[in-house]
Amino acid sequence: MENKAIPYGRQDITGEDIKAVIETLQSDYLTQGPKIAEFETEFAGYVGSKYAVAVANGTAALHLSTLALGVNVGDKVITTPITFAASANCVRYCGGEVVFADIDPATYLLDIDKVRALLESSPMGTYKGIIPVDFAGRAVDLEAYKQLADEYDLWILEDACHAPGGFFLDSQGSRQYCGSSRFADLAIFSFHPVKHIAAGEGGMVTTNDEKLYKKLLQLRTHGIVKSEGAFTNTIDFAGGKETYPGWYMEMQMLGYNYRLTDFQAALGMSQLKRADEGLQRRKELARRYKDAFSGSPFIKGQSGVVEGHAYHLYVIEVDDRLGLYNHLRESKIFAQIHYIPCHLMPYYRQFGWKEGDMPSAEAYYRHCISLPMYPTLTSQEQAFVIEKVISYYDR
Ligand SMILES: Cc1ncc(COP(=O)(O)O)c(C=O)c1O
Repeated sequence: MENKAIPYGRQDITGEDIKAVIETLQSDYLTQGPKIAEFETEFAGYVGSKYAVAVANGTAALHLSTLALGVNVGDKVITTPITFAASANCVRYCGGEVVFADIDPATYLLDIDKVRALLESSPMGTYKGIIPVDFAGRAVDLEAYKQLADEYDLWILEDACHAPGGFFLDSQGSRQYCGSSRFADLAIFSFHPVKHIAAGEGGMVTTNDEKLYKKLLQLRTHGIVKSEGAFTNTIDFAGGKETYPGWYMEMQMLGYNYRLTDFQAALGMSQLKRADEGLQRRKELARRYKDAFSGSPFIKGQSGVVEGHAYHLYVIEVDDRLGLYNHLRESKIFAQIHYIPCHLMPYYRQFGWKEGDMPSAEAYYRHCISLPMYPTLTSQEQAFVIEKVISYYDR
């Protein structure tokens, strides 16, 4: 019997989600309206941050963050090569220079020792910030990064696109949730359909810093302010007498239109209600993959079972990865590769990055493959995936 296609990730849209969107479409607001503030409050509550700013997508969240942090032409920022290109590109949008540091082959995350080595080998002030990525959903130990960042006067922008609900255990054994911004200046999320919370497109920036929060709000809408206390032109110029006229607004910095729509926020909020449930299911799937593959001679590494991991992806490392990829496709199992190392993208090669620069990331890329991982993946479907992986190597 023909099986149905099994992608590596997919959204789950329920009747409740559809109802929430329709209700919003029937309201007075189509673009940014009251649902945005509601979504921001709920999302901030979920990750444990003081503020949240909803934006058009995760890439816009990154761009606004680098703008708010003041990245300028030539500013050097460190990030990982094993991420979606947007984590690095946001530095380039501001004219900054991306400096890649290698990954830790055990966690697949930016290796803090490699970052420290970079910092130690350069004059103080060479670097401006670090963008650690909670790759695959595994939370970066931001307490350790914060210590390092403080030593070198750097900011931290956490790319938490893969990890809403994820956490690491700090030095006291307490859970520190991704995006809480306890140890980061800013954190960002994406609501692309393969992510934990889908809004079609969508993103969020979280922070505990009021100044950055206000700047993000302004940058999200063209750099415009509408409140009287913030105006710099005179009342007279604005055309008022004793107060500014009702129509008056000022564009005070170069901003963008990175707004999210109200109906996307309604979908995001409806999805957020089920986020913990989805996370629970992802953890069950991860445990089953790990149990199925532990001790298998063809497995060189895998995401495994890690406390606080949010399992956006479940990665295994294998020999003959291309053979396995094609074998799975024959059974309509669409595993995926995350990621082609960023520093070897033609765009980044032009800055001098080349093979051999990031040995761990490059070795990881030769073997990694992400297996299907999403809450509606049934146990039978997962068993089918596992059987197909094992049968490929047991031929
Ligand atoms: C780690 C990471 N950062 C940033 C992004 C960009 O998010 P978006 O696709 O919403 O722009 C993604 C999305 O794929 C991602 O996986």
